[in-house]
Amino acid sequence: MKNKLKVKNSGVVTLGTPDTKRGGLFVAEAKKHVPFEIKRVYFINKLSRKSAPRGNHAHKTNTQAIFCLNGSFDLCLDDGANKQTLRLCDPSKGIILGPKLWHTMQNFSNNCTIAVFASHHYDEQDYIRQYPGFLNFIQK
Ligand code: TYD
Repeated sequence: MKNKLKVKNSGVVTLGTPDTKRGGLFVAEAKKHVPFEIKRVYFINKLSRKSAPRGNHAHKTNTQAIFCLNGSFDLCLDDGANKQTLRLCDPSKGIILGPKLWHTMQNFSNNCTIAVFASHHYDEQDYIRQYPGFLNFIQK
């Protein structure tokens, strides 16, 4: 991930790596490495259709931090005005997916594993799944 963030409602999260001698160890403490209280964690794997995108939505309230634990993938971000694509491949570097940030994950490598920490429990009402609705919502 070399590009600087250009979109709003995002940020970089750097995990703790206290012991790098015997393999990888990555630490995420709420309000320390991750800037919110974590209420939910989920993992995405077995992304067999390499080009089938995931995500393709924004949230109204939920804030998330997304990590690539293994392999790599493209994270496409769109705040309604600016768009950018980041290639995630380093488990210690996550990206904040704040509210009102349209995000899509695609171009997964073999054995790509994604982890997401979320500030809220799952709530389908918090999703904006239609892009025109997203553009409407961010005008409000
Ligand atoms: P979705 O968030 O759309 O997946 P992705 O962003 O990875 O493409 O979720 C896919 C389905 O799983 C959808 O029906 C909602 C459900 N789901 C839950 O029930 N709980 C959860 O925590 C998440 C993330 C999804």
